[in-house]
Order: sequence, then structure tokens, then C-alpha cells
Amino acid sequence: MFNLKKIKEDIIWVGANDRRLAMFEGVYSVPQGVSYNSYLVKDEKTVLFDTVDKAVRQRFFENLEAALEGRSLDYLVIQHMEPDHSAAFVELIKCNPSVKIVCNSKTYDFIKQFYNLDINAQIVNENDTLNTGRHTFHFIMAPMVHWPEVMVTYDSTDKILFSADAFGSFGALNGAIFADEVDFNNNYMDDFRRYYSNIVGKYGTQVQSLLEKASSLSIEMICPLHGFVWRGNFSNIISKYTLWSTYQPEENGVMIAYASVYGNTENAAEILSSKLRDKGIKTVMYDVSVSSASEIIAAAFKWSHLVFASTTYNAGIFISMEEVINDLVAHNIQNRKVAIIENGSWAASSGSLIREKLEKCKDIKILDQMLSIKSSLNVSQLQEIDLMVDAIAADFPKSTPQIKPPPAAESNEVKKAVIDPAAMFKLSYGLFVLCAKDGVKDNGCIINTASQITASPLRISITVNKANYTHDMIIKTKEFTLSILDESAPFRIFEQFGFHSGKDTEKFSNVKYTERASNGIRFIPEHVNCMISARVLDAHDYGTHTIFIADVTESFLLSEIPSVTYKYYFDNIKPKPQAPKENKKGYVCKICGYIHEGEDLPADFICPLCKHGAVDFEKLV
Ligand code: FEO
Repeated sequence: MFNLKKIKEDIIWVGANDRRLAMFEGVYSVPQGVSYNSYLVKDEKTVLFDTVDKAVRQRFFENLEAALEGRSLDYLVIQHMEPDHSAAFVELIKCNPSVKIVCNSKTYDFIKQFYNLDINAQIVNENDTLNTGRHTFHFIMAPMVHWPEVMVTYDSTDKILFSADAFGSFGALNGAIFADEVDFNNNYMDDFRRYYSNIVGKYGTQVQSLLEKASSLSIEMICPLHGFVWRGNFSNIISKYTLWSTYQPEENGVMIAYASVYGNTENAAEILSSKLRDKGIKTVMYDVSVSSASEIIAAAFKWSHLVFASTTYNAGIFISMEEVINDLVAHNIQNRKVAIIENGSWAASSGSLIREKLEKCKDIKILDQMLSIKSSLNVSQLQEIDLMVDAIAADFPKSTPQIKPPPAAESNEVKKAVIDPAAMFKLSYGLFVLCAKDGVKDNGCIINTASQITASPLRISITVNKANYTHDMIIKTKEFTLSILDESAPFRIFEQFGFHSGKDTEKFSNVKYTERASNGIRFIPEHVNCMISARVLDAHDYGTHTIFIADVTESFLLSEIPSVTYKYYFDNIKPKPQAPKENKKGYVCKICGYIHEGEDLPADFICPLCKHGAVDFEKLV
């Protein structure tokens, strides 16, 4: 049965996932599976971008037939001839004899080589175009990203880059199609890096060349042949590609890979790691006998410093360590500082052999201090490890934070930890109107937690009570605006957006302003000093609330009046609670003044007006 994903109104993903594949290209493990993406454009003419691997051809053909809905296929654009994208090609042209193949001359040669076929093809060169009605496709050559015939395609109508292997990732799609539908950074970034470093890591210069070509295009969506489609947050993946393709590390820290038959080389590596940690330097460790070479290559692309610790085996480097070193050299690792530990009970040689191999790489600086162990680490060699640690630590800022112990208690008495909720009010909370739009429905609510996370990319977090209707709209639409209230804000704004649910009321029914941000969502143009629009990247469920992580898509200033703080609101805006009627028993909400009558207030009570919890109520006296 077909399983389609709509990318745009007239563009459909017709690819398939493979979760049974043990080894991609026969060498890279894919425990999270892999997707083979193929895209059908249904314009006045129909166009297919690439096919799939033979393992998933049945699902692909079902998808393609369903997506075509009886129409014939007019064009097949072959961007990459590697069989994980072209294996269904021969069958496709047999079923669609009138389909016109669009490819470059190198691809044409490869078709003959792989499939022994002479076909009629429309040969395209750099910047040639294909118009199919509404869409105009521009062909851009991207040799060696990942094979010499690779080209990518830019749809100037919808501003989409069909990027072939570029920006692809290991990992099956699991029902989602867009990267912003999943927790990409936490669940897929490692596979994204592993895919890049192992598949195109060797070709940094060629990736740079493609990035430069892409930088002149206005791109709103990237459709790779593996992994998720990107419709924003490009700065995240472009910055990764820029680092990786120029062989700059993503993080300062030490990747330690070790090969140890009886645990003694591992012991030396552990001690080194421990001493580095004592200096506040991040470390990660890999046992090359159990971690795949592809994981270690990805880690080498990530970290600034590399340590290889290997026993000597058959007068050479231990087998799996030699494989890792050879792979790193083959993948063109550059610009790293390296330290080496060798072990050998009678004729240690692994260290010098590792050095010999890595010295061929560009800008690899290997520390002179090599630690050579005879069977197991000797106490006198701890000093050598210290010297190695010092040599590595010299590259790290002196201010690298040390792990500090908690302050010593003045006596042996164990004090019971207390939590004073008032401590939270010392944080400088602002107050914001958070707006969302679902179809024709506009809504907004008051929140008090929004902050910047990173400057590049410009990314913020907001925390929203799940009881708010706006919360549900953002979960669904993944976009919002944030209007930062200033000190001129009257209480009516808090009443308007904070004390009623958008499920029952139209929050904007009594306002004269009609402004909307570029994302189509309303914002508050008065008593607000700034407007921010953002697209959600991740959402984290924390029981009563959801924390949304979002990339800023628009922001502008509206006034110079200071932002209203939570304290300012309490002191100057919120009306003082009415004096309770005599003998009335109950609890008053300190936020909005709502009174809950009764002797007790349940611990999980939520204010029906402003949605604050029991902690924000005080007893009537
Ligand atoms: Fe996914 Fe280079 O093929």
C-alpha cells in the first residue's frame, strides 16, 4: 500500500524507508535505518527526482503510481547515479517508455556502465533549465558531493533545492518528513554528522564549492535524497557543513579511541581521560573493538583533539585501530592535534606506525610526547601522562571551568534542603503576549517565560502552560509571535489575553488594530516594545508545561519603553486583591485575583482564569 508525504501542494515524497539494512554501502551500520527519498512534481508536466534502492523498490512503485493518479511520468531527473538512488531506474523506464531522462553527460556515461543501456536523454549542463509549466528547474553541478556526476536542482518557483546527497542523513523517517517535526538535534544530529563525515567528509573542497553556489540562491526548502526535508533552520545545518567541509572542529574537547586486548591500554586511556576531565576538558572515549569506524570518524570530525591508544598486534597496529586510522586518512581528516599511546609487551611499534599514517594528513599536529607502555602502565609513567595532559590542556582556555565541590558545611549537621518559591521571582521574568494562528482562528495568551538561547542561529525558548489553547495551536502549527509588553501596558491587556480561554472567546474581537507578522500571525502593536516571530524546532514536555525551542524568523522594535517585569506588573499594574467579605474562607490567586472559596486548596489546583497553580494562591485572612 502506498505511503505518500506532501512536501508542497504539487510536490509529493514517493520514497521509502529501510530499517532492515545492516550496512549502508556495505560498510556503515544504520541502526536507525535509512530513507531513500524520491520526489514527484505534478506540474503541467510530471517530473520525478531520482528513484530508490532496490531493497525498497516495491513501496516506491506503489507510491509513484498512487501519486501520479493515472497521469504519465514526463521527466525523470537523475541527480545521482549511485544505485541507492538509481536501482529502480531500469524498471521505471520499462513501465514508462515515454519518460524523458534528464541528466548530465557524466551521468549518461554511468547509465551505460551500470545498466548497459543506450537511452535517449536530455543532457544538461551548469545553469540549464527545465520548465514544466509553473516550475522552472535550474541544474547545478556538484561533482564529488558525493560522486563525480552529482548535480543538484534549484526550483526557482518554490525556492526549493533538491540537494542529492548533500544535507542528507542516516535514519529512517518514522512517519515524519520535515526535520522540524522531530527532535533533530537530540535524535538525529549524530547520524547527520556520521552521514556527512563518512559519505562526503573526504570532499570538503567540493562541498565548499556547492555551499558557495547555494549561497547565491534564495532557498526556502531543501530536499535531500536521504533523511528529512528542511523548511527553515538552514543556519544550523549550513554552519555544520561549513565547519565540517573546512575541517574545523565543532567542539573543543578530546576524542580518545583505544584498542586494548587485556584492558591495560584502556586503563592508560582512562587515566588520561580522567586527568583531562580534572582540568575541565571534555572527553569522549571509544573502544575501537566495539564502536564502528564510522562513529569514530564522525567523532573525529566533531572534536578538536584526538588521542589514539593502541596495543601492538602482529608487529603492527591492532586490527580495528588500523582500520580506523586508515579510514580517517581516507576521509581526509585535517586540522587536529593528536596524541598517541602505544602498548607492546616486547616490541612496541603501533605508535610509530600510527604516526606514520597520520602524518600524511594536512595540518595534523602530533604531540612529540608519545606514551609507550610495556604490558601495563607503570607508576613512574603517570608523570608522562601528566605531560601529555599539559600539552593538550595548553590549547584550552585557562578559564575552562573546573568542577567545584559544593561549599563545605560549617558543621557536620546535614541541613534539610528547602525550596522557597519566592526565589523564582528574583529571576527577571518579562511578560509577553504569545499569539498563534490555526487556519482562520487567531489566539493569544500571556506567558512569563521567554529567553534567548543562542545568537547564531538566533534561537529562543518559551514555556507555555498546556492548559492554554495557544499551546495546542503551536503544537499543531509550530509557529508563533511573541509581543514583549512594556511598562505602559494596562491591566486590560492581561485580562484580555490572560483570564479567558481562546476556546470560548475571540481574543481579538474588541481591538482596533489588525497587524500581523510576516508569518501571518497577529501580534500586539501597542504597549509592546518588540515583536518576535519564531518557528518551533523542538518541544519538550514537562508535565504541566511545554518548553518550545524556536528559531527567530522576524523581529522588530516598537518602542523604547522598558519591558514590563513580573515584579513591575505586581507593583504597578495588577489591581490589589479586593478585601474579602467578612468570614469568607478561601484562597485568592495572587496573579489575577480569582477567589477559590473553601477551607482547602488542592495541591494540583489550577486557577480557572489565569492558569497559575496552587503555589500562586494565598489564604484569605
Ligand atoms: Fe545516497 Fe551517494 O548515494
